Amino acid sequence: MSAHPQSGALHAVAIGPLRGVAEVPGDKSVSHRALILGALAVGETRITGLLEGEDVIDTGKAMRAFGAEVTRLGPGEWSVHGVGVGGFLEPSKAIDCGNSGTGVRLIMGAVATSPLTATFIGDASLSSRPMRRVTDPLALFGAVAHCRKGGVLPITLEGAENPQPVRYTTPVPSAQVKSAVLLAGLNAPGTTIVTEKEPTRDHTERMLAGFGAEISVEHGPDGNVITLKGQPELKPQTVEVPRDPSSAAFPVAAALLVEGSEVVVPGVSRNPTRAGFYTTLEEMGADITYSNVRDEGGEPVADVTVRYSRLRGVEVPSERAASMIDEYPILSALAACAEGPTIMRGVRELRFKESDRIDAMARGLEACGVNVEETEDTFTVYGRGAGGVSGDARVETRLDHRIAMSFLCLGLAARAPIVIDDAGPIATSFPSFLNLMRGLGATFA
Ligand code: S3P
Repeated sequence: MSAHPQSGALHAVAIGPLRGVAEVPGDKSVSHRALILGALAVGETRITGLLEGEDVIDTGKAMRAFGAEVTRLGPGEWSVHGVGVGGFLEPSKAIDCGNSGTGVRLIMGAVATSPLTATFIGDASLSSRPMRRVTDPLALFGAVAHCRKGGVLPITLEGAENPQPVRYTTPVPSAQVKSAVLLAGLNAPGTTIVTEKEPTRDHTERMLAGFGAEISVEHGPDGNVITLKGQPELKPQTVEVPRDPSSAAFPVAAALLVEGSEVVVPGVSRNPTRAGFYTTLEEMGADITYSNVRDEGGEPVADVTVRYSRLRGVEVPSERAASMIDEYPILSALAACAEGPTIMRGVRELRFKESDRIDAMARGLEACGVNVEETEDTFTVYGRGAGGVSGDARVETRLDHRIAMSFLCLGLAARAPIVIDDAGPIATSFPSFLNLMRGLGATFA
C-alpha cells in the first residue's frame, strides 16, 4: 500500500491487456462495524484485513475519542479494547468523520443512547449530505440533535439520559439508517425493532449476532423485520474482514473493458446483499467465474476471475438497487462501452452519496462523448459499443472516490486519455488503487 496516495489531476491512458492478481483491500462497511462493535464489547477484539482507508481510520479515531483503546498491530491488523455497551465517555473535541457518511451515521447511532454530548464534523462533501434520516429516528430514543440549517453537519448530538426502545420503519432503503437505529438500540432497555421494506446490506445484523447480541431477522413479503434486545454484554471477537466487492468492482470492470485482459480477485465478499453488480455483469454477457467459495468471518467469499468481454446494455431493475448501490458509477462506465442502452431504475439514492452520482457520471460521460438521459430516479447510458468512447475529456470528481476510480477505469479503454481533476479522494476507500492497477498494467500519469 502506498504510504502517500496520489492527489491532484491524473490521466488514464488506453493500454494493452490487464493481467494478474488484484488483492483489493478489506470491506469498508465491515471495517467500520468491526471498530464500532469492538469498542462496544467488553475486552479485546482483534481485527485482520481492516481497510486502512481514511474513512475507516477516522472511525478508529472516533472510537478512541469515546474511550476505546484502538491500536494498529500491523498491516490491516488492529486491536480494540472496548468499553462495553453504555460505557462511552464524552469526547473532549469534535469528532471529525472526514468524507464518511457511514462513519458519521453509525457513530451517531452508537452514541445516541449514552448520556453524553458530542459534536460531529466532516469535509465539504459530508457536510452537504442529509443527516435527518438518522437524527429523526435517534430522537425517538430521546436523543436531541442540533443540526445546521437543512439537517446537515456540523451536528451536536445530546445522547438520551433515559433511552426508550424504538420501533422504526426506515423511510428510504439505507443500511446506514437501519444500522444507526440498531446501534442506538443496543443501549436502550427492552426491544428495538427495525423494519426495512427493501433489504439492504446486513453486516450490522451478522456482526451483532457474532458479538453475542440477541438479534433476529424475519424475512417477509413486506421486507425484513429486525428485532434486537437492548443492553447485552457484547463479547469481543476475532473479525476477519473479507475483501470489498465494491472495490473489487474497479479492477473487474477494467479487465472487462480492456481487450485481452484476465484478472483474478481473490477472497471477495459474496454476501447476497452486496451482489447486485455481479448479477448485472452476468446479464451484460461478462465472462466472470467464481471459485473456492468459502466462509470468512461470517461472510461468504469467493475468488473472482474475469476476462475481457463484449458487453451488451441491460435494464437494471429498481429491486436490485440496494444490493449494488455503490457500483452504479462503475456500471455506468461499463455501460458507456456496451452495445445498446443500459437503463438503471430506482437509483434516486445515488443523489445523496459523496456527490450526486447521477449528475457527476452524466456530466463526465457527456464530456467523454457518451449520450445519457436522467430523471430524478432513472439513469440511462447509451452505450457506444464497437464505436468506442472518445475520451479526450477532463472530469470533475467532486470529492467522490468512486467517480474518480470509475473515470480512471474508463480512460483505460477510451480512444483518447481521460483526466480526472483530483485523485485524492481515492484514499478514502481504496488507498492502494493506483498501485494495484499499475501492477496489472494500467497507465495513470
Ligand atoms: C453503507 C451503506 C450504503 C452505502 C455506503 C456504505 C454501509 O449507504 O452506499 O457506501 O456501510 O452501511 P446508504 O445506507 O446511505 O444506502
